[in-house]
Amino acid sequence: MYEIHSPVLLNEVLDKLKPKKGESLVDFTAGYGGHSGLILDTTGNFEGSYLIDRDSQAIDYLKNIAFKNKPVNIQQKDFYQASIDFFNEKKKFDIILADLGVSSLHINDHARGFSFRNNGPLDMRMDQSQQKDAGYVLNTYPEYRLAEILKEYGEEPKAKKIARYIVESRPIQSTSELADLCAKAWPGHSKTNPATRTFQAIRIEVNQELGQLSDSLPIWINLLKSGGRLAIISFHSLEDRIVKKFFNDNSGERYDAKLTLITKKPITAGQNEIVSNPRSRSAKLRVVVKK
Ligand SMILES: C[S@@+](CC[C@H](N)C(=O)[O-])C[C@H]1O[C@@H](n2cnc3c(N)ncnc32)[C@H](O)[C@@H]1O
Repeated sequence: MYEIHSPVLLNEVLDKLKPKKGESLVDFTAGYGGHSGLILDTTGNFEGSYLIDRDSQAIDYLKNIAFKNKPVNIQQKDFYQASIDFFNEKKKFDIILADLGVSSLHINDHARGFSFRNNGPLDMRMDQSQQKDAGYVLNTYPEYRLAEILKEYGEEPKAKKIARYIVESRPIQSTSELADLCAKAWPGHSKTNPATRTFQAIRIEVNQELGQLSDSLPIWINLLKSGGRLAIISFHSLEDRIVKKFFNDNSGERYDAKLTLITKKPITAGQNEIVSNPRSRSAKLRVVVKK
């Protein structure tokens, strides 16, 4: 039905989370069930575990293929809302996992508009019932705000120039048009495709990815049982910085530390994994244990 997403750092996640029989899991970015499938195989606790994703295509796959006839709880929500709901319900878990960002299916399906390599609509919504899409951001935001977004979320050195080109070319209707404007700002060759940073920035804005993460982290600590483990895989430096700072601020020698940091340095993919799954190249895994 769908091309399957390959889970990154799978062995490393299992090695650090150490799932045990009967333990409960929340996978806040369940995607296509690569990580959660193996964790649940070990714990066997389907009824007490939850798989969350904001994308209806992923939810469809989890319900009808990956976990068909399995009594696990599968919910289509963004993870901030899911975290608030669990908190209000006073739920606690042994294992929490978040493998952030988009799936291979998002990138490979041109119609979702995430890829600068193939032409598609300016969409980039993980949750397609959401109103705000990339077209809305690109065609209605003021130029100064676009420049800020490209600078902050894309770390794009030519943010102001690209923002100006975007505003001058309105209405922009396709991912190819946007990629062409980025190329115009970067004449000549560069190692990275000149559209990479702009597409990352617009995607982060559309899906509010950084706010979702920083607002959810304090709740995730609350949702862990004592001895519970939280693993987060991030794919770009902005996300990793948020996770690193939050874990450092809540662990260590301080009297009120709630966490023990078990990855002093982030775990990254080995050469074999990078060759077989290039998406793993930028993955960073950080894990903490609740005291
Ligand atoms: C990298 S993929 C996860 C893949 C998964 N670990 C697997 O093995 O199949 C990230 C998934 O998280 C979802 N996602 C990203 N941000 C989210 C958020 N704030 N709330 C809920 N789901 C989110 C995306 O829709 C995507 O399906």
